[in-house]
Amino acid sequence: MERNRIKLEFLVHDLKVPLAVIEAGILSLLQKQDKYGDLNDKQIKILERALRNTIVTRTLVNDALELGRSSQGIVIKSTFTPAKLVEQTLIEILDLTDHSTADSLRECRTLADLKRCLAEQGLFLEIDEAFWERDLYLDESKVKQIFRNLLTNALKYRKHRVVLKVGRGERCLVISVSDDGEGIPSGYHQKIFECYFQMDMKSDHCVRGHGLGLAGVQVLLEDMGGELTLESDTGKGATFSVKIPW
Ligand SMILES: Nc1ncnc2c1ncn2[C@@H]1O[C@H](COP(=O)(O)OP(=O)(O)OP(=O)(O)O)[C@@H](O)[C@H]1O
Ligand SMILES: [Mg+2]
Repeated sequence: MERNRIKLEFLVHDLKVPLAVIEAGILSLLQKQDKYGDLNDKQIKILERALRNTIVTRTLVNDALELGRSSQGIVIKSTFTPAKLVEQTLIEILDLTDHSTADSLRECRTLADLKRCLAEQGLFLEIDEAFWERDLYLDESKVKQIFRNLLTNALKYRKHRVVLKVGRGERCLVISVSDDGEGIPSGYHQKIFECYFQMDMKSDHCVRGHGLGLAGVQVLLEDMGGELTLESDTGKGATFSVKIPW
């Protein structure tokens, strides 16, 4: 492995310890009030949000390490349902940006409830009731990373709406994420998958920034033998579809 890659992964790796200390500290305050003192409702709410976000950060750190590992082609399969994948990913994303919706999603008991709650935020979920609880046997953390990145982009670039479709193709899981944003001119359809590439929507210039999400998505898909298609053009929104074989 290239020296700089090792150094970078080592830095990410060493984030795990301070994060674990922060998480344990918040948990102690919440769970051992007899020892550390009583908390009022507002303090509990703030600490709970801090805790959730520490957990999200821990997940991200693990994902970052996973991404490094996956470039060496390691796939770890387990059983999970589309319901778990969709709910957890949405809550994770919304907990950072819109915690009242994240709170409402957590309370949804049925698929219909969840769809209704999402539709109020301009997020339209399309999935068969029967497929929702079906068992999938795939690399859950990679599928989640792919889904999270496509969804985060769609939410970032949409004008009003995002449509999520989750279903089955021929021996594969199909996820598609569409938004009604500015779209991506066909000349950039390859470039946006390169590391650090970002389009500057306003001046139509290429700028260097993070631009790591889609490059990561491609690497993970390659490892799982999946494929991605992009349908988009200027002013026409974007649809990213992935097929992951099972
Ligand atoms: N849904 C979308 N609509 C319009 N442009 C998009 C969309 N998704 C990605 N892009 C373009 O592709 C570029 C690369 O996307 P990518 O997810 O790799 O990076 P990013 O979202 O800019 O940063 P990061 O994901 O690392 O936080 C984006 O900067 C944007 O210009
Ligand atoms: Mg992104």
